[in-house]
Amino acid sequence: MDDTTRLLETVGQMAGGIAHDFNDLLAAILGHVEMLSGDLAPGDPRAADVNGIRHAAERATTLTQQLLAISRQQVLQPTVLNLSDVVDRARRLVQRVIGDQIELITCTPRDLRPVKADADQVEQILLNLALNARDAMPRGGRLTLQTRNVDIEDAAAQRQGNPPGAYVQLTVADTGIGIDPAIRKHLFEPFFTTKEPGRGTGLGLATVYGIVKQSGGHIAVESERGRGSRFDVYLPVTLEAPAVAEPPERRSRAERASETVLLVEDDVAVRSLIGDVLRRRGYRLLVAEDGVQALKLADEHASPIHLLITDVAGSAGPDASVADAVRARRPETRVLYLHKPFTPDALARKVRAALASHIW
Ligand SMILES: Nc1ncnc2c1ncn2[C@@H]1O[C@H](COP(=O)(O)OP(=O)(O)O)[C@@H](O)[C@H]1O
Ligand SMILES: [Mg+2]
Repeated sequence: MDDTTRLLETVGQMAGGIAHDFNDLLAAILGHVEMLSGDLAPGDPRAADVNGIRHAAERATTLTQQLLAISRQQVLQPTVLNLSDVVDRARRLVQRVIGDQIELITCTPRDLRPVKADADQVEQILLNLALNARDAMPRGGRLTLQTRNVDIEDAAAQRQGNPPGAYVQLTVADTGIGIDPAIRKHLFEPFFTTKEPGRGTGLGLATVYGIVKQSGGHIAVESERGRGSRFDVYLPVTLEAPAVAEPPERRSRAERASETVLLVEDDVAVRSLIGDVLRRRGYRLLVAEDGVQALKLADEHASPIHLLITDVAGSAGPDASVADAVRARRPETRVLYLHKPFTPDALARKVRAALASHIW
């Protein structure tokens, strides 16, 4: 074990231990917040404070989730997967995340051997690596996602400290600024970032590393300054047969949703991303650019609106929040405050949780 691995292990164990405790505490905080907000009459001015607490606790929950990933203590739901399928399904999402200045190329052969991994976590890996690639290509470039079968021979594997064997390789390569050799060994450390505050958290690659390790794989980086970088994730081939014939729709673990969601979001990119994520999961969507439009949609829509998604700043006039205004009309509608950035997965989970909560 080299120094970096040892450091990652230690930090990871600490973070994981803390994250478990925090998760319990946050669940308690959120539970009490739900009860408190259930007791408030519509229009009670203290609702803003209660929401502020909820807001902060939800952000903390996202962060602890990330710490659990880093410390490899996430609850994974591995299934037998074809990584080509996972990449193909994530393609549109990745394209959206990187914008249209960057050309996206995918190379996903059909004859890929199966691996056993959590599909949502593989998507998380792809998104984190794609986000970094985007940041490395501020003036555009090319992002390549590629899968292939590889056998790691004993000698080569031993040189890199990896067990030999049959793997599937998932490559994320960019034509960006490249990585300074001096910082190479710090890349996967939690909180290591070269980005200005507010732009980077330094958790992206630590999260990727955690997921890869927890999945029994490893990751390699190659980069040339000014030419680009490539991250190769290796996941071991599984001998297990796929459980049942996988349904073509990726959301096999959760039943398809059918609820109606009213989304208020002024940013067109975020709006269409969320729309995409939720529609893919079966939700019906009403989409508004601002509070005024949202209220109009709410008034025109005859059937129930189960959930409103808005950011806290969303207003429906000089002194009414969208949330209050919609709830005044439809007290049964639940509200989910959107925090950016978010992952599709986390968003879907939050939507599910918000819909499942009995008290609002
Ligand atoms: N594709 C890439 N090209 C150039 N540098 C990269 C790339 N991916 C990661 N890095 C470097 O690694 C650092 C850590 O990445 P990450 O853990 O995702 O944190 P963050 O993106 O928040 O900075 C980045 O700040 C950047 O310096
Ligand atoms: Mg990052």
